[in-house]
Order: sequence, then structure tokens, then C-alpha cells
Amino acid sequence: MIKIAPSILSADFARLGEEVRAVDEAGCDYIHIDVMDGHFVPNLTFGPPVIKCIRPYSKLPFDVHLMINPAQPYLEDYANAGADIITVHAEADIHLDRSLQVIKSLGKKAGVSLNPSTPETVVEHVLDKLDLILVMSVNPGFGGQSFIEAQLEKISRIRRMIGNRPIELEVDGGVNKDTAKAVVDAGAEVLVAGSAVFNGDDYRATIGAITGAIQ
Ligand code: DX5
Ligand code: ZN
Repeated sequence: MIKIAPSILSADFARLGEEVRAVDEAGCDYIHIDVMDGHFVPNLTFGPPVIKCIRPYSKLPFDVHLMINPAQPYLEDYANAGADIITVHAEADIHLDRSLQVIKSLGKKAGVSLNPSTPETVVEHVLDKLDLILVMSVNPGFGGQSFIEAQLEKISRIRRMIGNRPIELEVDGGVNKDTAKAVVDAGAEVLVAGSAVFNGDDYRATIGAITGAIQ
């Protein structure tokens, strides 16, 4: 089963709670929440207080993608704000293994994200602590960028590396009805889509266009 995780980066921030409810009711699986610090990535979004405010608008898992450096000092704040999955970047946390241990000790699912230029081998020795691997198929920081085709090979390699471990493989950036099938064929099972979902008026239709393209 392929899961769709709309990224609220492309939502109307003035109506964020209602936007979360709208994609939930439109039939998605996770709410993908992009946290940016203006340091690890050249853009700023929001932090734990905003996540806490939107938490009551959906019972779906909050899939929190931390594009912040450092992340480790703030993990507890994101757990308390209502995150279900907390994903850190392999490039941001020097002590990745420790960050994953902290996330697990907070009772949350632990994810690691890889920038497009980062080889998949960085996760090889932390697989036992992972619930999710997030492959960036754009350079993180902005919605609406074009899918980087070279990531398909990395997705396939990670799929093989995961084997039968219970680790979800998620892909983020430039995923839309035209790119989704190749991403799924390469082995991804969770698709993040920001602009492809929120730039339309009818979210059920925009989500349906993506799931329809992978049939
Ligand atoms: C990029 C973010 C993505 C982004 C995806 O830094 O991590 O989640 O919102 O946006 P689209 O789907 O428009 O590429
Ligand atoms: Zn993201």
C-alpha cells in the first residue's frame, strides 16, 4: 500500500489548521511537516508551538521532517508538540546514532533523511534504530522544485538494503502525477507531495491524481 504525505509547506499558512483538516478529509495517510531553520536550509518555517496548535486538526500521524542543525537539543520539544515520526538529516546531526536513540527513547518513530548528494551508505550501521528513511529528491528548502532523476537509483539501492526490515522508504521533492510511478517502481512506499496537492483547489482530486498515476 502506497501512502501519501501532503507537505503543508505549500499550504495556506494563515489557515494552517483548516488546511491540515482538509487534506486529512481528502484521504491522505500522513501529514508531512517541514521544519526549516534558515541555517541548515536557506528558508525558515515554524517550530514546536505551531505544530502543537495544528495537532487537534487531524488524528493522522504527524511526519515531522527536521531540516535544522543541530536537531538533537530540540527532539523532545517536537515529541511534546505532537510529532509521531521525527526525521533528522544525516548531514545535520554529527551523532546520528545518538539522535535516533533519543527519538526512540521519547517513544516516537525515528527517521533519517538524505540530501541528494549523500550516499545511502550513511544509514547502513543504524538500520536497527530506524523506522523510516526519507530520500530527498530535491535539495531541501523549497517546494515546487523539479524531481532529481538520479535519486531513483539511490531509492532502489536503499530498498535492497532495507530487505525485510520494518523500515518505510519515503521520497520527498518534486513528486507529482508525472513522477510518482517511477518513484514507486524504484521501491518507495510513502510519497511526500507539497505543491502537487496544495496548488489545486480540490485536494481529493489532487491526491487522487497521484495515486491514480501509480496504479
Ligand atoms: C523540501 C521539503 C518538501 C517540499 C516538497 O525542502 O522537504 O517536503 O515541501 O514540496 P514539493 O512536493 O512541491 O516538491
Ligand atoms: Zn519534507
